[in-house]
Amino acid sequence: MDRYTIAGVVGSIREDSLNRKIAGAMCAATPDSLDCRIVEISGLPLYDPDLDGNPAEAWLRFREEIAGSQGVLFVTPEYNRSIPAALKNAIDVGSRPYGQSVWAKKPAAVATASPGGIGGFGANHHLRQCCVFLDMPMMQQPEAYFGGVSDDKFGPDGTIADEGLRKIAEGFGQAFAGWVDLIHKGRHLLASDPAGSDGERAAIPLGS
Ligand SMILES: Cc1cc2nc3c(=O)[nH]c(=O)nc-3n(C[C@H](O)[C@H](O)[C@H](O)COP(=O)(O)O)c2cc1C
Repeated sequence: MDRYTIAGVVGSIREDSLNRKIAGAMCAATPDSLDCRIVEISGLPLYDPDLDGNPAEAWLRFREEIAGSQGVLFVTPEYNRSIPAALKNAIDVGSRPYGQSVWAKKPAAVATASPGGIGGFGANHHLRQCCVFLDMPMMQQPEAYFGGVSDDKFGPDGTIADEGLRKIAEGFGQAFAGWVDLIHKGRHLLASDPAGSDGERAAIPLGS
C-alpha cells in the first residue's frame, strides 16, 4: 500500500473535544499508510461570496491545506441533529469560488461521536449528503457512529483508554487507508487503460 497525505477535519472547535481525540486515534493507527494532519477550522471567517475577489487569509490557508491532501477524514459531533456550523462553514469555504472546489475527487470517510446513544447518526448522514454533492468518493463501510462516548474513555494524554472504543477507531482508520489506496490505484488503472474512463469500454454482461 502507498502512503497518502490525509487532511483530518474535526467538526468540533472545542479544546477538549471527544471527536478530536478519536480522530487522533484513527490517524495514529495507520502510520505506514496515512500521513494524517488535522486541518484547523476554528479561525475561518464565515463564507461570503462577495469576498471571493478579496478572500480572507484563513480561507486561502484552509483551501491550500485541503488541496494538498490526497483524502479527507471527517470526525464530527452532531449539533441539533446536523453538523456543527463551524464544519458547514469550512465545507462552504473549501467549495468556492465556483468551479474551484478543493474537495472534488478526494476520497473521504466520516465518523461521528457523541455522549448520546445514536452516535451522531443525523450529522453523519447530513455530512455524507454534502460530500456526495461535492464529488467526494465516500467510504460506505464500515460506518462509525460512536455513541455513549465520555471523557472517562480517554487517558490524561488524550489517547483512548477504553479498549473497545480504541479497537473500533483503529479499525476504522485502517479501513479508510484501504479505501484511499483503492480510489487512487483505481484511478491510476483507468488512466492507463487504452479504453479510457470515458465510457468507451464495452458493457460487461450481467452475471459474468
Ligand atoms: C449546540 C449543541 C447541540 C448539540 N446537539 C446534539 C445532537 O443533536 N445530538 C447529540 O448526540 N449530541 C448533541 N450535542 C452534544 C454533543 O454531542 C456533545 O457536546 C459532544 O461532546 C460534542 O463533541 P465534542 O466533544 O467533540 O466537542 C450538542 C451539543 C451542542 C453544544
